[in-house]
Amino acid sequence: MLPPRDWADVCDTTEVTQTIAALSLKGGVGKTSVVLGLAGSAAANGLRVLVVDLDPQANATSSLDPTRTPYTTSDVLFDGRTGVAADAVVPSGWDAKVHVLPSERALEHRAESNGPDSALRLRRTLSGVSDDYDLVLIDCPPSLGELTRNALYAATDALIVTEPSFFAIQGAEQALESVSIVANNGNPLLRPLGIVANRVRPTLSEHAYRMDELRAAFGDLVLGGLPDRAAVQLAQGACVPVQRWTSNGAGDINVAFDRLLTSIVPASAAMNATISLTSPTPRPSLATTLRESL
Ligand SMILES: Nc1ncnc2c1ncn2[C@@H]1O[C@H](COP(=O)(O)OP(=O)(O)OP(=O)(O)O)[C@@H](O)[C@H]1O
Ligand SMILES: [Mg+2]
Repeated sequence: MLPPRDWADVCDTTEVTQTIAALSLKGGVGKTSVVLGLAGSAAANGLRVLVVDLDPQANATSSLDPTRTPYTTSDVLFDGRTGVAADAVVPSGWDAKVHVLPSERALEHRAESNGPDSALRLRRTLSGVSDDYDLVLIDCPPSLGELTRNALYAATDALIVTEPSFFAIQGAEQALESVSIVANNGNPLLRPLGIVANRVRPTLSEHAYRMDELRAAFGDLVLGGLPDRAAVQLAQGACVPVQRWTSNGAGDINVAFDRLLTSIVPASAAMNATISLTSPTPRPSLATTLRESL
C-alpha cells in the first residue's frame, strides 16, 4: 500500500478529536451496534458525538433516524474538499448531542480507489468538522477495502469488533495488519485501541473457550466481551439508543457499553475527549473491567 502523498496538508492541526473507527473483515459481528452503543453511552455522559456512517448499508443512519439527509458520505467523498462534510452532518433523531454524517446505498460507488490520495478523502472532508465534537465514531463496512482505508486515515483509534467464534483470531489478525499498514504509511495518529468481542454468552463453554483463545493470542488488546441481549436489536429497530430501553437485558448491555466507553475514551468522565499531539493524553491499561462481564 503506497502512502498518500499529501498527508501533511490534512494533518496540520495540533489537536484532533478522538476518532474511533469500528472495523472488522467479517460482516454481522456488531460494528454498527458497538458504534451506536458507544454513541448512546457517550451522549448520556454529556459528550458531543458525531457518528460517521461509512457503510453503504446505512444501518447506523437508519437507527439514528435523522429527519433529513440532504447529503451523504457518498456525496462528501465524491466532492472531497476540505471541511465539506459540514454540509452533510445532520442532527440524529436521538439526542441533540448526537449528530450523524449519513450514508446511502450509492456510497458503494466510492468503494474503489480513485487516485493516489483516494484514502485521504474522508480525513480531508472532516477537517475542522470533527472539532465541534468530543468524540467521532466511524462505522465501517464489512471489508478492509477502500472505505475502511478512508476510515483508518481519518481515525486516531481503531476498534476491532469480533465475535467469540473459530474465525475470531484470524479476522482480528487481518484487521490489526490493516491498522498497522496505515499507521506506518501516513497516519501516525492511528493506534489499535483493542479488540472487543460482541454477543458473548458467558454460560456457553464454546464462548468462554474462544475468549480465552483471543486473550492468549492478543493479550491486553482484548477489551472484553459485550453480552448478547435482545434489547440491542429492539432498540435499533425502534430507532432509540439502547440506553433508553428498559429491560433487564438492556441494563446488562448498557453497563457493558459504559465500561467500554470508560476504558477507551479516557476523557469521557471529564467530558473532554480531545488529544494533544504534542503531549498525548495518557491512556489507561487496555486490560479493563470489561473482563468482568465474562
Ligand atoms: N450484543 C448484541 N446482542 C444482541 N444482538 C446484537 C448484539 N450486537 C449486535 N446484535 C444484532 O446482530 C445483528 C448484526 O449486528 P450489526 O449490524 O451491529 O453488525 P455489523 O458488524 O455492523 O454488520 P455489517 O457487517 O453487516 O455492517 C443486528 O441485528 C444487531 O441488532
Ligand atoms: Mg454494520
